[in-house]
Parts: sequence; C-alpha cells; structure tokens
Amino acid sequence: MAQQPEAIIYDLDGVITDTAEFHFLAWKKLADELGAPIDRQFNEQLKGVGRMDSLELILKRNPGLKGMPQEEKEQRAAEKNGYYLDLISQLTPSDILPGIEELLKANRASGVKIALGSASKNAAFVLDKLGLTHYFDYIVDAAKVKNGKPHPETFTTAADALGVPYAACIGIEDSAAGVEAINGAGMFSVGVGPAEHLPHADWRVDNTEQLEFTEILKQYSAKGE
Ligand code: BG6
Ligand code: MG
Repeated sequence: MAQQPEAIIYDLDGVITDTAEFHFLAWKKLADELGAPIDRQFNEQLKGVGRMDSLELILKRNPGLKGMPQEEKEQRAAEKNGYYLDLISQLTPSDILPGIEELLKANRASGVKIALGSASKNAAFVLDKLGLTHYFDYIVDAAKVKNGKPHPETFTTAADALGVPYAACIGIEDSAAGVEAINGAGMFSVGVGPAEHLPHADWRVDNTEQLEFTEILKQYSAKGE
C-alpha cells in the first residue's frame, strides 16, 4: 500500500446523508403491510444491499411469503421505492451529514480523486438534491454493476473508471456488506458506525463528524507500514 491514496470512494446512504433511515422506514412500512414486520437489528442486514435483494431477505424469513411470484415482487419493490421517494422528496443540502462537505472539500483540494460507490438506483438524484454532484469525478450506482455489495464490484468499478490501483483506494461505508465489499476489493476500509456492526473495518469512527481528511490519510498510510 502506498503512503498516499489516489482515490476515496464514498458510500451514499448513511455516509453522506441519513437516507439509510428513510430506506429503513420505507422497508418497515412495506414489511408491515406484508405481515412480516422488521426491526432495526434485522435492518443491519439490509444496509448497503440492493432493492430486490433486500426484498428477498425480508421474504425469506417468512415461510408464507417465500413463494411470492416475480411479478408481485417487482410490484412490492416499486411500492417500497414509492414510500422512499416520498420520504426523500424534501431533501436539501441541510441534510448532508455533519463533517461530510468539509471532508469533500479537503479531499478535492488535495487532488485525491473522488467517487461514489452506491447500491442505490436513486443515487444521482439524491446527490443532486444535496447539491454535491460537482465534487465527484465518477459515480457508481446500481445501474453500473452486476453484483451488488458485499461483492467488491461497486468499488472495483469506481477504481477502474478512475484508472487507479485498488490498493491506492479508500472506501467509506456505514454497512457491514459495504465494508466487506471494500475489503474484498483490496482497498482500505473506513467504517462509520458501531463496532458491533463493523468489526471488519480497517479503521472505524462512530459518526461522520469524526471523518477528518488528514486523519483518514494517516490511518491509511499507517496500515501500509
Ligand atoms: C443502498 C442502501 O445504498 O441502496 C440500501 O444502503 C438500499 O438500503 C439500496 O436498499 C438500494 O436503493 P434503491 O434506492 O435503489 O432502492
Ligand atoms: Mg450505506
């Protein structure tokens, strides 16, 4: 691992803005309707996971729902997305999580490249509502990958597009599946959230306020020593 990284790849939901909470509320509403309620503990398994895969995880734990026809699955997933879109309709730059815009500014000023690595089909829309699109050199969303997180493809796709080696990349994630994806890509993983959910992160902070650019670089180069 080099002393200085060449790119940082940011997750969106739960790192840049608290849309992870809106995904949870939307899934919870759908799961209640299906008679298959979910709680926050179970939701940890959904974080970072794509829309259809998340629905499958909800259906799988309820024997009565396992045989749902594909057409209904698609309708249900669309319904969840409708609830989610309602929740994010009022999103503004004031919903950027603390410390994130400062981090993006410092990242930009340093010349280290910036990519988004999101599992969401709504990623470009959300970034736009937050007024952050201009910081990004490249955006990977659900449409650009075949294999969602925890597969490394989201992160390797970003690095390939930027033309940087995987070992020279840092990934920032709030989900267990996302940290696994970064590690699988051979990148340095930064976890944002409780240790019990992110024990596999190379470096972990409790919240986004602690994501300080020079500290991230320090932790990255310490791993390479
Ligand atoms: C990820 C979220 O970023 O995107 C997941 O962490 C979500 O919770 C996934 O299911 C897919 O999002 P969307 O917007 O395509 O339904
Ligand atoms: Mg996330």
